[in-house]
Amino acid sequence: QQELKGKDFLTLADYTKDEIEYLIDLADYLKKQQKDRVIFEPLKGKTLGMIFEKSSTRTRVSFETGIYQLGGLGIFLSSKDIQIGRGESIADTAKVLSGYLDGIMIRTFAQEDVEELAKHASIPVINGLTDLYHPCQVLADLQTIKEVKGKLQGEKLVYIGDGNNMTHSLMIGASLTGMHMVAVTPDGYTPNKEVLTKAKSIADQHGAIIDWTTDVETAVQGADVLYTDVWASMGQEEEQQQREKDFENYQVNERLLEKAKTDAIFMHCLPAHRGEEVTTGVIDGKQSVVFQQAENRLHAQKALMTALMTD
Ligand code: CP
Ligand code: NVA
Repeated sequence: QQELKGKDFLTLADYTKDEIEYLIDLADYLKKQQKDRVIFEPLKGKTLGMIFEKSSTRTRVSFETGIYQLGGLGIFLSSKDIQIGRGESIADTAKVLSGYLDGIMIRTFAQEDVEELAKHASIPVINGLTDLYHPCQVLADLQTIKEVKGKLQGEKLVYIGDGNNMTHSLMIGASLTGMHMVAVTPDGYTPNKEVLTKAKSIADQHGAIIDWTTDVETAVQGADVLYTDVWASMGQEEEQQQREKDFENYQVNERLLEKAKTDAIFMHCLPAHRGEEVTTGVIDGKQSVVFQQAENRLHAQKALMTALMTD
């Protein structure tokens, strides 16, 4: 048992290895209860506000369904429809919402905005994706890798593509759990240097290895997990054509998957662009666990809400 009540979830770097492992175990437990149709409602009478400044399928539906299954209520707040979209400050929004809700999930652009919200809110704030991080996704990813591979320590995860929010949260998650992660990106699309330095220093404490390279062929050797994400993230739509050229040699395809371990799995946070960052054969092939991974968003976030929003 870890005491996480009232804590924010802005980045995995604010959590210890034990706390992450606790959340993964709780997610497994809640998944089993869900499959056994056991009713468990620790969030009865509690409400989560969900602010979205970007689109979402998985994050929105898994949080909303998750809190409902836990006995509480989720309120979808499009930033276009609340006063934040007309210039009300983040600080005022945080103080007002703290008087009504028991938690806030926010998906937006700047990590600083999520930090500002958390600073002025008296209730837990959960980062549902920023340009810098996507910690909820990685919590579910770690649960999935552990579920399939039996452990996290020593597993080799090779991320191929853009050095983006997914790369950053994967580097922090992998460093905390003793994994060996290599981020492979083209020049000009490297991961954030501060995050890489932070991940490496966390890695040193947990027997993890975090590396960055441009060399796909060497990196994938011995990989247990191949992971990719879209080449143009939300907010980068106008760079799509340029990125298609720059990432041409960074596609996860059958030829690349063959160079990993024979029992390697393929992961993607979704949504995916078949024929770009991954071929149809790989994402729909038998080594792909993308839908198990997507389902685990529900269980991992139920664990997160239970830990942060109840005694
Ligand atoms: N993976 C993920 O966060 O998906 P959505 O953008 O659909 O929420
Ligand atoms: N990197 C992607 C992840 C989507 C879940 C984006 O930010 O659009």
